[in-house]
Amino acid sequence: MSRVFAGARPTGKLHIGNYLGAIQNFVALQQEHQCVYCIVDIHALTTLDETSMLQDNIRDMLLDWLAAGLDPQKSILFVQSHVPQVMELHTLLSMVTPLSWLLRVPSFKEKARMQPQNVNYGLVGYPVLMTSDIVLYKGELVPVGEDQIPHLELAREIVRRFNSIFGPVFPEPKPQLSEAPMVLGIDGQQKMSKSLNNHIEIAATPVETKKRAMMMVTDPQRIYRHQPGRPEVCNVYRMHQFFSPNDVQRVYHECTHATIGCVQDKEFLGEQINKYFAPFRQRRQEISTQPHYAADVLADGARRASVIAQETLREVKEKMGLLTRNTR
Ligand code: TRP
Repeated sequence: MSRVFAGARPTGKLHIGNYLGAIQNFVALQQEHQCVYCIVDIHALTTLDETSMLQDNIRDMLLDWLAAGLDPQKSILFVQSHVPQVMELHTLLSMVTPLSWLLRVPSFKEKARMQPQNVNYGLVGYPVLMTSDIVLYKGELVPVGEDQIPHLELAREIVRRFNSIFGPVFPEPKPQLSEAPMVLGIDGQQKMSKSLNNHIEIAATPVETKKRAMMMVTDPQRIYRHQPGRPEVCNVYRMHQFFSPNDVQRVYHECTHATIGCVQDKEFLGEQINKYFAPFRQRRQEISTQPHYAADVLADGARRASVIAQETLREVKEKMGLLTRNTR
């Protein structure tokens, strides 16, 4: 049974794109693997200069995870900085990571371009910290999106280099790409993302959800109500495939025969999304009103994660010659 490790930046409340793209997969992996899921608050600092929302964002993300079915009995759910050994390992791994490898990582180049006033040392080391996350827990399978593949390649290179210099300690982590297709935002053009404000939060109220659904862009060539639409190019239709599997054929027929208009179609989608997430929202409401539940889950997660972390770090230090005779 290989161990799964995944990290997620604390972006706050999750949206439909996160849910279909990542969270569903995190939940499914729990059946067959020991899973370690980490909210990476230190990574968040590489692009944040304002941290007043950080704790709220961590809590919101955890509540979404729990409501979606991540099980704290089965999986380890914790916050990166609560197990500080990862920062120690980061420093040690930085000694076997050539700077040239880090400077050619696409996400580094992209972020350096986006925030030229803040190209900090931590940003360059981002993939080393990510490698430390994974290998501290000897993670072998890493569920990620396409965009993280270069980071994982680098992680494998660091691992190979460490193992060949100091002896075998870490397994090489492999990406586990989920089959979920990319979910477009309500603009129908770009990937759904909070920063583009084209998202629908899964924990939104039914009224908010409907409002966002009504803002969705449909077939841009369908201008009049009596004109047939083209579901193939319509993001509302695409969403029906997830949220209205039993009605999708009827919707297709009615749209292409102009017996429903886009407005009606979007109203229906809003209702379907609300129906789909109703049990989720109910659960989230329940756990968010239990005073210590979220904090307790994280404390327990950190405790269990620490046990693994300490053991790995000890092994690393021993291999690197950092232990004195007495501590060996
Ligand atoms: N870089 C990842 C992202 O932006 C987050 C992350 C940090 C991560 N550490 C990780 C993902 C370890 C997988 C494994 O989404």
